[in-house]
Amino acid sequence: MDRIIIQGGARLEGRIPISGAKNSALKLMAAALLTDEPVTLANMPRLADSRFMGHLLAELGVSVEEGDGAELRLHAATIAATYAPYDLVRKMRATFNVLGPLLAREGHARVSLPGGCAIGARPVDLHLKALEALGAQIEVSEGYVDAKAPAGGLVGGEIDLPFASVGATEHAMLAAALARGESVIENAACEPEIADLAAMLTAMGAPVEGAGSSTIRIQGQSRLKGVRHHVVGDRIETATYALAVAATGGDCILDGAQWAHNKALWRAMIDAGVTVEPADQGVRVARNGARLQAVDIETQPYPGFPTDAQAQFMALMTLAEGTSVIRETIFENRFMHAPELTRLGADISVHGSEAVVRGVPRLRGAPVMATDLRASVSLVIAGLAAEGETVVNRVYHLDRGFERLEAKLSGCGAHIERRSD
Ligand code: UD1
Repeated sequence: MDRIIIQGGARLEGRIPISGAKNSALKLMAAALLTDEPVTLANMPRLADSRFMGHLLAELGVSVEEGDGAELRLHAATIAATYAPYDLVRKMRATFNVLGPLLAREGHARVSLPGGCAIGARPVDLHLKALEALGAQIEVSEGYVDAKAPAGGLVGGEIDLPFASVGATEHAMLAAALARGESVIENAACEPEIADLAAMLTAMGAPVEGAGSSTIRIQGQSRLKGVRHHVVGDRIETATYALAVAATGGDCILDGAQWAHNKALWRAMIDAGVTVEPADQGVRVARNGARLQAVDIETQPYPGFPTDAQAQFMALMTLAEGTSVIRETIFENRFMHAPELTRLGADISVHGSEAVVRGVPRLRGAPVMATDLRASVSLVIAGLAAEGETVVNRVYHLDRGFERLEAKLSGCGAHIERRSD
């Protein structure tokens, strides 16, 4: 099993390229099921998760081809299977989003209930309610969802989400694009990944209005066309490197980062004493000398502070002056990094959905265990800032969501390497 070895203490300096967004790319890949014409995704992140989604699509009959650079070509000329078995869905939650497109195109589908990071219960009730609002009949038994469309196919409908779930909003949009007539999603999620999917569906011939606001309207079509689409930059990767630079007291340009997509994080980092500013084709992050100040945060749906950057922000706060209170409101079990950070000398106590972080002057390297995707990278950030050697075990979690992590970090001065012995 691979391990990542970090010799901490080096300041990060230079430029870090930001890849396409994992969370967007996986849903855009699912959208390729909606058309019998070729789809090309540019700026695709090369990740274990996107390869895994590619395997699932190939099983469903899609031709999947990696092109030059960061291109992925998908062609669902015909759908060979409408069945997604447990083994292909259990590893990550986004695979569940093939249900809607299969149902919309073929009239029926059987998809296993999903897996994914163990950060909470993560039910799919809102996904299923959305599909029912479009006329689907749904049965859940023995770990599988069986969905059937009415005789003439899915019909546009009104979907009122009790919680602005990202996955459910995307799932509703995917199915509605091939449903007859207009669909309206109320209390829709507003994440930039939603706007990215909306742009792709619009270019495929199903106009989507209001993406980025809480009401989304989709004009469903009986047929969609192929498209070439550029995946939006990864705001969570951006947040991660921004926090790594701040933790090491470095100075970097995050190339391709979008200022507008991380405003809640920038506010918190600026309050903590970090310099963050828009820069030529990206964002500049710097901290020179001064000690960090403790800042409280609470995770919220976009445009609030992202839950996917909570662990990384906690890593930064371990070194701040004062006490920071971190509240997690999206997932109920998302502090698994806290005991691991404590192994490096951090002072953190967790009480339900709140973590109290008392800043310490320095961290010291130690062996730690990656527990989930974003938690793992918080350990990398802490290791980069710590004195001495940190060994991060179980790095397959990191490979799911961070492209060329060691190369990007060592490219700006970090002492980090992977060992597979
Ligand atoms: C997506 C992201 C994930 C991010 C999360 C919140 C992907 C692949 N993953 O996950 O990285 O942390 O958004 O920004 O894009 N819920 C229900 N019923 C449902 C669906 C969700 O109760 O049917 C609950 C969840 O358990 C959770 C909350 O809603 O407590 C938010 O989940 P959601 O926004 O759906 O996140 P995901 O789409 O799973």
